Amino acid sequence: MVDHPPNAIAAPLLRWYDENARVLPWRVSPAARAAGDRPDPYKVWLSEIMLQQTTVAAVAPRYAAFLERWPTVEALAAAPLDDVLGEWAGLGYYARARNLHACAVEIAERHGGAFPNTEDALRALPGIGAYTAGAIAAIAFDRPASAPDGNVERVTARLHAVEEPLPGAKPRLHALAAAAAPKKRPGDYAQALMDLGATVCTPKSPSCLLCPLTEFCKARARGIAADLPRKEKKKPKPERRGVAFVLIRPDGAALVERRPAKIMLGGLLGFPGTPWWDRAGWEAALAAPQRYAPAAAGWEEAGTVSHVFTHFRLELDVRRARGEAAGEWLDPSRTDELPTLMRKALERAAA
Ligand code: ADE
Repeated sequence: MVDHPPNAIAAPLLRWYDENARVLPWRVSPAARAAGDRPDPYKVWLSEIMLQQTTVAAVAPRYAAFLERWPTVEALAAAPLDDVLGEWAGLGYYARARNLHACAVEIAERHGGAFPNTEDALRALPGIGAYTAGAIAAIAFDRPASAPDGNVERVTARLHAVEEPLPGAKPRLHALAAAAAPKKRPGDYAQALMDLGATVCTPKSPSCLLCPLTEFCKARARGIAADLPRKEKKKPKPERRGVAFVLIRPDGAALVERRPAKIMLGGLLGFPGTPWWDRAGWEAALAAPQRYAPAAAGWEEAGTVSHVFTHFRLELDVRRARGEAAGEWLDPSRTDELPTLMRKALERAAA
């Protein structure tokens, strides 16, 4: 295999993208772009925030609903945060929704409603890190920026046969990816890499026979494409435990409360319950969780639900009772306002 200059892959990758670009609700197709269509930076930003940690299939319908409700950054900035969190319910990683709103407010109030068009200025905004700044600069403003997400890291590790494991290899992979970003059609190029990673250069069994870059791929030449990128062994996440109390009224409504802002799932709806203790605290605490329960008789155990957060895994015991109490009641038709963990707890209580 001969060595190629860093930007040699751009032309074959763009030719492939012209034929194979996925049709996505937030995307301006390569043909439309060539005809002069420019993407709306608000839509690019919204889609990139939603796509962090969430799949294209899960985002698509939620993206459409979000845009319909808040068609402009000014409309989103004017919305109450609780409405934005409610619309985000189930997508997880709620800091994204809080930052989304804070960013919209900043764009509306300090940038005259227009997104800045450089990576540096974008990075200064709430919720916008290196990946998102690169993606917006490239896709919305056609700047030769790279957007190094997991797809780009994988494709780059394979092209250059980088055997150093992630996450240690990130700086090297990101530098290699940045050096390869072309000045021509950088927005299409960034999206072409995403599509290649999602459809051809996939994690488990890459379709090298369909790949427009095989002749450039050092991992392919060495027969190790499917083994890259290597990964350092992950430490298991620490466990926390807690108890949730689901009180159900005769009409099926459940007693809920809005969680305080500063705790996990803060600002979202949840069931009354204990704090989520780590191993050091839970034994004594779980022995007497009752002081956190709403006043009602006949609490019974309904099982346990598990949920994985970024930094810990939660085992939540669910207790249920029937009764009445003062407070906010969630009608069965509104359970889509609950974050996923609480929806699981409610399903457990109803089972
Ligand atoms: N993943 C993250 N951003 C994306 C985008 N703009 N298009 C497709 N997949 C993506």
